[in-house]
Formats: sequence, structure tokens, C-alpha cells
Amino acid sequence: MFVINCKNYEEISGDKIIKFVKTAEKISKKFKIKIAICPPQHLIGVVATSSIPIFAQHVDNSKVGSTTGFVIPELLKKSKVNGSLINHSEHRITSKEIQKLVLKLKDLKMTSIVCVKDVAEAKKYAKLNPDYIAIEPPELIGSGKAVSTERPELITEATIAVKSAQNNTKLLCGAGIVSGKDVSKAVELGSKGILVASGIIKAKNWDKIISEFAKALV
Ligand code: G3P
Repeated sequence: MFVINCKNYEEISGDKIIKFVKTAEKISKKFKIKIAICPPQHLIGVVATSSIPIFAQHVDNSKVGSTTGFVIPELLKKSKVNGSLINHSEHRITSKEIQKLVLKLKDLKMTSIVCVKDVAEAKKYAKLNPDYIAIEPPELIGSGKAVSTERPELITEATIAVKSAQNNTKLLCGAGIVSGKDVSKAVELGSKGILVASGIIKAKNWDKIISEFAKALV
């Protein structure tokens, strides 16, 4: 699984998100690899019906109806959104909310990716049986220094932590990943995919960099 979080980078603002998703669609087909995109929240509807999975960057545990400004799983589902990040480092929520959202997404048959900052959290939240746990050391996010080279032990330990839950949860890792080499190293260490942002979004040639990452994952 190759997940690209677009965050709120200027490079994918407005119509640029369409070109970005089209590029990812093409590469997904070419390398037969699952690439999921998390567009900025307000642009989800623009690309939700594309041929690759579209995930929200964040989702709120709020009810259907009078919940102004909240982004809720039930309505995302109706707009063909396939899943969501939960508890991203830049948008942390309580453990109670994490628990409720994992269950809600499961009920709706949507993919859940719970982001965690360390091995203890990986172990704790893997027990909820989300589809994925994504481990990202906050200090390496956006740094250009890859988790797989700077903190390799984090991936190996998180792999063990996730396995200890004895369910179907798989491990992803992210933070500072900028090259195919970083991706290969992450996979060697036990990660089943990656969660990446700046290394892709800020690259000059999206086609080239997404292809480089995809090749490292197949
Ligand atoms: O969600 C992905 C993320 O936080 C990693 O960011 O820019 O280091 O790839 P980046």
C-alpha cells in the first residue's frame, strides 16, 4: 500500500489536485500497485470518483445531521471516499475517539489508517484491529531524513508490536521518505507500505518520483 498525504501543500491546491490524482492513477495501473491519495479535505469531492482509493486526511466522530463543519465517515462514504487517516501527528485526537472511529469505519467498510508516534502506541492501537497502523516519528516528518534510515529499529519493533495483536492489521511507516531507496529499506525492515507527503508533493516531477516509489514497492 502506497499512501500519499497531500496535507495542505500549495502544490496541490485548486485544480492541481486533478492532475496529481491522474498521474497517480496512471502509475497505479502501470505498476499494478495500490496507491491511495489523501487530498486536502475541501477537495475530496473533486477527485472522489477516481479509479484509485481516495482517503480523508482526518475524520470526526460526529453524528449525521446538525454537526456544522465536521467531516463525518457516513457522508464521506456517500461521496465514494474509501477510508481515512485517523490521529495524524498534525491532527491528534483522544484514544476514545480513535477507538470509536476505527469501529465506525469498519462498520462502513472503509479503510482505517491509525497514525502513531511510537512503538507503544502501535501496540496499543493495533489491538483495535484497524486496517493499518502507520508509524511516523514526529521529529522526522517533512525533514527529508527517512524513518527507515534514521530510526530503522522503530520499524522492526513496530512490526513485532503490530504482529502481537494477532489480527489483520498491517504496518505502514512514514516521515522523511524522499527516495525509492528509503522505500525499499522500509519494506526490508517489515513495513507493508508507506505513508508519504512532502517527498512526493513537493517534487518537481510527480510522474518520475511516484514511479520511483512504486517500483520500490512492487
Ligand atoms: O502523513 C505523511 C507524513 O506525515 C509524512 O510527511 O513530508 O515527511 O513525507 P513527510
